[in-house]
Amino acid sequence: MQAIDVKFDCNALRTDTALRLWQTAASLHSRKLSMPERLPVDLAKAYRLLNHGPTVLVTSTHAGRSNVMAAAWSMPLDFSPPKVAVVIDRNTYTRQLVEASGEFALNVPSRATAALTLAVGSESGRERDKFAERGIATFAAGKIAAPLLEDCLGWLECRVLPEPHIQERYDLFLGEVVAAWADANAFRNGHWLFEEESPSSIHYVAGGHFFETGKGFDVSRED
Ligand SMILES: Cc1cc2nc3c(=O)[nH]c(=O)nc-3n(C[C@H](O)[C@H](O)[C@H](O)COP(=O)(O)O)c2cc1C
Repeated sequence: MQAIDVKFDCNALRTDTALRLWQTAASLHSRKLSMPERLPVDLAKAYRLLNHGPTVLVTSTHAGRSNVMAAAWSMPLDFSPPKVAVVIDRNTYTRQLVEASGEFALNVPSRATAALTLAVGSESGRERDKFAERGIATFAAGKIAAPLLEDCLGWLECRVLPEPHIQERYDLFLGEVVAAWADANAFRNGHWLFEEESPSSIHYVAGGHFFETGKGFDVSRED
């Protein structure tokens, strides 16, 4: 009798899991989205994740505490080795963690993550755990300790290139990109897809107003 109960429970569990998977697939399909497929990005092409100026989420960790904040002011700085620049205000908790660890990650959020971007950019993690409070899912980076965020389109793992003068004077941090990743539904073979059905990155204006990266187009070079 007991064995039958266990079998029944297992079947119920399987049915429930299958139903949930089906619901996720149906939801992705109705939104014309695909399951994320994270692929490494060739470091020589990593600058392209930021070239069009998306707003990013900066993740950091030190001594068992991790944090995430929004940053509209980031940009690529060099091709090889790839470097980035990002403004991290002196009053942020992120600044403390980045200075202490010498590392940070830039996560490129999608339209679907815009509300979260505004939220983590409007509160400090100094006294709270934004990941736990907001149920933010993460996965381990390849080369740094800072967590990377699920539900993003691109990821750049960075080590701080110490420049004490510009850090202190302008809150500007330079980082060498030591690993990069992208969701193949949005960025593939070194290029953003920018197609109607592909998830798009976001750009912050002000006051909770964003716009979504639009349709791409090509211009031929003159010979
Ligand atoms: C969309 C958006 C973009 C932002 N861009 C930047 C930025 O580029 N640099 C910065 O220092 N702060 C920026 N902020 C503010 C920080 O994200 C904010 O101060 C955050 O609460 C700091 O969190 P923390 O103290 O947990 O590190 C931005 C906020 C938002 C909402």
